[in-house]
Amino acid sequence: MAERYILVLGVLLAVLSGTTGCPKYCDCRSGGQHEYSVTCQGPNITAVPRDVPKNTTVLVIGEHSFLTLLPFRLSTLNLNNITSIRRAGTLDPKALCGSDALDKISLSHNNISTLPIDVFACTSTLSFLYLSHNELTEVPPGLFTGMKQLYSLDLSYNRLSRLQPKSFDGFEKMTFLDMGGNNFTNVAHVVPAFSGPSSLYFPALYQNNIVYLGPDSFSGVTSATFLNFAGNRIRIIEEVAFSPSSFSNLTEVMLDQGNLLHFLPGKIAEGLPKLLSLAIDGCPFKCDCQLKDLAAWVQSRQPHSYPYVDVVCASPPKLSGKYLSDIPLSELTCDCEHEQAPSIDTSGSDDHIQEGQSAMLNCRVTGCPLAEIFWTTPGGDMLAVGWGFPRMEVIDIENSGTLSIQHATVGDIGDYVCTAVNYRGKTSKTVHLQVDRKP
Ligand SMILES: *[C@@H]1O[C@H](CO)[C@@H](O)[C@H](O)[C@H]1NC(C)=O
Ligand SMILES: *[C@@H]1O[C@H](CO)[C@@H](O)[C@H](O)[C@H]1NC(C)=O
Ligand SMILES: *[C@@H]1O[C@H](CO)[C@@H](O)[C@H](O)[C@H]1NC(C)=O
Ligand SMILES: *[C@@H]1O[C@H](CO)[C@@H](O)[C@H](O)[C@H]1NC(C)=O
Ligand SMILES: *[C@@H]1O[C@H](CO)[C@@H](O)[C@H](O)[C@H]1NC(C)=O
Ligand SMILES: *[C@@H]1O[C@H](CO)[C@@H](O)[C@H](O)[C@H]1NC(C)=O
Repeated sequence: MAERYILVLGVLLAVLSGTTGCPKYCDCRSGGQHEYSVTCQGPNITAVPRDVPKNTTVLVIGEHSFLTLLPFRLSTLNLNNITSIRRAGTLDPKALCGSDALDKISLSHNNISTLPIDVFACTSTLSFLYLSHNELTEVPPGLFTGMKQLYSLDLSYNRLSRLQPKSFDGFEKMTFLDMGGNNFTNVAHVVPAFSGPSSLYFPALYQNNIVYLGPDSFSGVTSATFLNFAGNRIRIIEEVAFSPSSFSNLTEVMLDQGNLLHFLPGKIAEGLPKLLSLAIDGCPFKCDCQLKDLAAWVQSRQPHSYPYVDVVCASPPKLSGKYLSDIPLSELTCDCEHEQAPSIDTSGSDDHIQEGQSAMLNCRVTGCPLAEIFWTTPGGDMLAVGWGFPRMEVIDIENSGTLSIQHATVGDIGDYVCTAVNYRGKTSKTVHLQVDRKP
């Protein structure tokens, strides 16, 4: 049997009940001047009826039906959570063809893991495309080519870990791009795609696994006004991450909901003329010498002035729960004999193993105050303590981050870089892992 596709609706205000020309078992309603919706559901619907009126703008087809050509004027097509698409995990290449007026397509909750490269070839008029809650691991180059009217693209809650840099070049109307809830660990794997559209005001990367934002994280991204990085695993943000040259129009940055910042540089918001809010609630801030610069900045400002930046201490115990703005600078101290940038010792790493064995790559960090560390894999993924991939994780052993690689394969061969950062500086060291094939 051919793949079966079922259409469900975009519900519009239904006012009048249509009468003449409505297919059997269907409900036809006009809503306003230009809307005509046809809903066909129930056990007796086995295919899209042949006599769907050509003026239909919203089409809903119930269970157990075959997709045929869409009505000519169809503008909204909702195909969320459709059993037959979920089973197939993909769409027919021609599934979206037939209408020359499609404006909005929703294909969420459909277990889609692959899409035919030409599936959007018929939808050049589309402004809204929702593909959230699927299983996409990649966006093949060219998939969206031709949809130059696209205004909003939602790819949230898929399994994307990389996006080609030029994926959206030439998409001059793109304003919303939602990449939340994916598998990105390194902004360099996704942010270059943001630099194409000149009106991309709302790029969203919430709920990914990003650990680090540095000086080059946003190069080429200039149009963003609202950056949503809530719910990542960010531990380190360097001073010039949000540089004014990148973000002249930035008004809001969201870094709350689970990021793991212990400190932030004092000049984090400096020179961003339009910034209204830097949301960092819930980060486990350690109110010690590293936060002194930020405290000085926070305390130098008028109360309730923009940008809003509220830092609440999580530690040390005596300052826990207090606002950084209320703490005398003299209380922000570190227990260091000499404050210094971190240094890294990787000696003793298992850097030459056999396929199937495990490797422990050491990153022993000295320096005071305590540094944050992360590892960068040969593929560019960034992993930090308490988080990793199925075979790889970073384990905290005596304030050092050991990268554990289980059941190594020859695909794991390459350079692994450990990076450590405290407010005094940043240091990196590379371990080359060699994996020999089993004889
Ligand atoms: C669409 O066609 C039906 C009859 O086929 C008619 O009753 C209805 O008024 C039309 N609606 C619009 C918006 O043109
Ligand atoms: C479906 O068709 C059968 C006859 O084939 C009929 O008895 C039944 O009422 C129909 N169901 C609906 C929901 O119209
Ligand atoms: C999708 O539909 C199934 C029934 O077919 C239902 O059990 C499930 O909750 C729906 N999922 C969502 C996200 O709506
Ligand atoms: C999801 O799609 C895959 C094919 O990509 C299929 O094997 C699997 O059974 C589907 N899962 C569900 C719940 O339908
Ligand atoms: C995320 O990406 C990593 C590395 O590419 C992979 O091992 C892991 O399975 C991915 N996770 C999900 C949920 O797709
Ligand atoms: C910033 O906003 C102004 C006014 O809305 C606009 O003219 C300018 O092009 C924007 N700058 C960037 C880099 O998008």
